[in-house]
Amino acid sequence: MANFKEISPNASTGEKFMNWVDNRFPATKLWEEHLSKYYAPKNFNFWYFFGSLSLLVLVLQIVTGIFLTMHYKADASTAFASVEYIMRDVPWGWLIRYMHSTGASAFFVVVYLHMFRGLIYGSYRQPRELVWIFGCTIFLCLMAEAFMGYLLPWGQMSYWGAQVIVNLFSAVPVIGPDLALLIRGDYVVGDATLNRFFSFHVIAVPLVLVGLVAAHIIALHEVGSNNPDGVEIKAKKDAQGIPLDGIPFHPYYSVHDIMGVGVFLMIFAGIIFFAPELGGYFLEANNFIPADPLKTPLHIAPVWYFTPYYSMLRAITGEMVNVLILIVLASGALTITKANFSGFLKAVVALATLGLAVMMYSVDAKFWGVVVMGGAVVILFFLPWLDHCSVKSIRYKPDWHWYIYAIFVVVFFVLGYLGTQPPSHMGERISQVGTLFYFGFFLLMPWWSKMGQTKPVPERVIFHAH
Ligand code: HEM
Repeated sequence: MANFKEISPNASTGEKFMNWVDNRFPATKLWEEHLSKYYAPKNFNFWYFFGSLSLLVLVLQIVTGIFLTMHYKADASTAFASVEYIMRDVPWGWLIRYMHSTGASAFFVVVYLHMFRGLIYGSYRQPRELVWIFGCTIFLCLMAEAFMGYLLPWGQMSYWGAQVIVNLFSAVPVIGPDLALLIRGDYVVGDATLNRFFSFHVIAVPLVLVGLVAAHIIALHEVGSNNPDGVEIKAKKDAQGIPLDGIPFHPYYSVHDIMGVGVFLMIFAGIIFFAPELGGYFLEANNFIPADPLKTPLHIAPVWYFTPYYSMLRAITGEMVNVLILIVLASGALTITKANFSGFLKAVVALATLGLAVMMYSVDAKFWGVVVMGGAVVILFFLPWLDHCSVKSIRYKPDWHWYIYAIFVVVFFVLGYLGTQPPSHMGERISQVGTLFYFGFFLLMPWWSKMGQTKPVPERVIFHAH
């Protein structure tokens, strides 16, 4: 028993038990590393509630999902009725179902706020690039999880929403039609689709999600948390090696986060008990009608959390592709004239630009819509390398950067709103401008983030006791 730690025979039974466990499993070590001796900056603010809230909603979704699965029938002929049975006949079934359906929207609310915090405080920057990349992958999985879950009640919107989105894959050149067939398991959305979406929704994606969340937190705890000042607290430590501006996560932030949980649960319960459909935003009226493959609803729109991307998809018309071709050609010309490239490199850029322009012209606009929609999420992965500002937090960036972030938020909301509306000429134009702004925000960031006068960053975090 060479490595076993001995404990005094006078120790309490609890201590003896923990010693027995610790000699076999690193329970105390894990507790200390991640909670009681994980030193988090003392200046966390409102925006720092949303990480723990995302974790809470993840657990809520898994637990309520387990109970729903006990009564749900993954069969196209009985799925809709089984959800009605859960709502009417299963004791507390309505509560479990509303917790799960409201939880899906709540998940996106807290995750969007959590991502926004990362965006404004530069939490994606060195050394937290991997924390951010794990986060973006979580976001992608969450979208897949929500999309597949939405098919399960087998209502009109479940059916037609899936039909529209899966059909998009068939726009991919060469492999598209086979890809769509593989996803559906049939030529139209049907029982085979329902079964595979069910199995992905209840086990495959949640498993990946839980693994990614673990990786996200392990990566964060390896480098330490950022904070609203964007100051690295590990740069100033006391004699014991503890950051001067750090406080143990437990009990300080565990208790602090419980307050966030309390407020969140009040709002969550309010919605579940008083407005579970939230005016059609959380549960759409059309989804209370059983799926009918012969009756297409007049207006098909995804749930609110997908609508900004849906707007971008609809913005890519043939006309818009021409505008994009012009932008590609202009960027290529600008690179060739301004960049300090050798003749050979310039020729490569010219060829690549022309090749891309020809490809854009010859492939259907629907495909570019799909590329833009996917690109809107994929571009987030590159954020750590797009931001070239000398400071991390928005607090010390030039004032006009605030306006850019504010416009970005407004554009995201407007795109989200337009995505819920039936197509219109005006809506199309506005979403086209919005899409250009969204991509411009990221693609031009290497330039605009460097511009302007930053403010001096303090050596230590700013903290006002309250
Ligand atoms: C299931 C979803 C998620 C869960 C459960 C989760 C959980 C957490 C937790 C518990 C923290 C530490 C507490 C905090 O800083 O708030 C954290 C930090 C962080 N998360 Fe997430 N997260 C999720 C999704 C995301 C997504 C989608 C992104 C970005 C694309 C992201 C980016 C970050 C970043 C950058 C940090 C470090 C923040 C800082 O130190 O300032 N997370 N996350």
